[in-house]
Amino acid sequence: MAPSHNAHVLVASNRGPVSYEVQDDGSLKPKRGGGGLVSGLSAIGPEADALWVCSALSDGDREAVRQGVGEDGVRMLPIPADVHADAYNGIANSVLWFVHHLLYQTPLEPSFDAEFRRQWASYETYNRAFAEALAQEAAEGAAVLVQDYHLCLVPGMLRELRPDLRIAHFSHTPWAPVEYFRMLPDDIRAQLVWGMLGADRLGFLTWRWAFGFMACANEIDAERIQVYSPVPSEPKSIEHTATGVPPLRTTWIGVHGLGADAEFLRARSHEADVEERIVALREEIGAGRKTIVRVDRTELSKNIVRGLHAYRRLLESRPEWRERVVHVAFAYPSRQDLAVYRDYTAEVQRVAQEINDTFGTPGWTPVLLNLKDDFARSLAAYRLADVALVNPIRDGMNLVAKEVPVVSDEGCALVLSREAGAYEELGEDAIVVNPYDVEQTAAALHEALTMPAHERAERAKRLAAAATALPPAQWFLDQLNALKALNG
Ligand code: G6P
Repeated sequence: MAPSHNAHVLVASNRGPVSYEVQDDGSLKPKRGGGGLVSGLSAIGPEADALWVCSALSDGDREAVRQGVGEDGVRMLPIPADVHADAYNGIANSVLWFVHHLLYQTPLEPSFDAEFRRQWASYETYNRAFAEALAQEAAEGAAVLVQDYHLCLVPGMLRELRPDLRIAHFSHTPWAPVEYFRMLPDDIRAQLVWGMLGADRLGFLTWRWAFGFMACANEIDAERIQVYSPVPSEPKSIEHTATGVPPLRTTWIGVHGLGADAEFLRARSHEADVEERIVALREEIGAGRKTIVRVDRTELSKNIVRGLHAYRRLLESRPEWRERVVHVAFAYPSRQDLAVYRDYTAEVQRVAQEINDTFGTPGWTPVLLNLKDDFARSLAAYRLADVALVNPIRDGMNLVAKEVPVVSDEGCALVLSREAGAYEELGEDAIVVNPYDVEQTAAALHEALTMPAHERAERAKRLAAAATALPPAQWFLDQLNALKALNG
């Protein structure tokens, strides 16, 4: 493809804002996604010459690329399906995601063998495809915002191709602690850190994750990489030289805690389809009962199984809650290509069923588990929530923790893991738990259920205010402006 060199703001991410489905008649049906980046990009307006570079993920996407179907402002890369599978399932989701979320059962895994090396080569190929596309499309001096652990090598590769660009990388995940990151083979660790340091600016959701990266970078090569974070209030940076001799390049570190989109959520959660689902959910829950609500992807890091165990402990240790509370647990399918995710989903179903078999009565189903993704029903559950349970093992931010207090009709109590990024902003008004401590989580659920109404409402008000402090459009613009302010 000939270089176009005319985009001034570029976003790169594995999953793009649109995907295509092949219909029975062979036609392609586009499906648009939401999220922080989508509202962020729309905030800069069409005149900004923005381009979103993403990967073709489905057969429909690949077909769309083949047919030249597409949307203005989006370029989908037709990465071969096997290369994408190795990079996305093999490396991004089975290695990098696991490292950053501390998910390995370490006596047996990880084991970095020849198969890992083969998949790593695909991860490099996939990152290179992004770097080359961005290099082709970017105007002189353009701002490029690279997203997430799928694309850690892109900043370094792109800088080599186009040193004129201003490059940012944003991590939507936590960053691993040094000891855990050290599990990766040394050359891979170095490649990841140097890849990221190709950026002018690295963004994280909290300072905890930013410091995690800085500590890992410091370990790679203390001679060539110098980390500066003198006092917490001052700007942080990393100076580095690829050659061991000056000139040093600087990579700045910034923190942008993505918030909930209050305006959208409040409006959307009062539309007719949500009202309908409230009626249906109320029916299922039963009159006069309290609700403990959780909404997640069925994701290992979300800790859904321990959440269910904690709920069972609540029913065991506080029998007064039997018949009086329902755990509404929505766990939507995610990454089902990976056996470990399929097994986890089965375990969630098994434990929920076991609780219902043990405690259920003809008129009361203790756990309402639903695995079918339905955004309107999620919002209905948010509105009905007395308690929101957000107990991840580790989480970059966790937007559900921010969304439920904004949407809940009566103001909910929030039981929140201290290992979620959202803890930094919401910890004060939440009931905070260690996600591994099932007894403590059960006690926290009891405390949340018995919180006096006025206190609950007051806390929820403060939670909602903190949760919406940085709406998605502002979150995006802050990063773009900070990047433009460098070198410029
Ligand atoms: C979550 C994480 C993001 C990640 C995304 C990928 O939302 O917070 O860091 O990019 O999952 O999900 P996917 O379904 O594309 O694997």
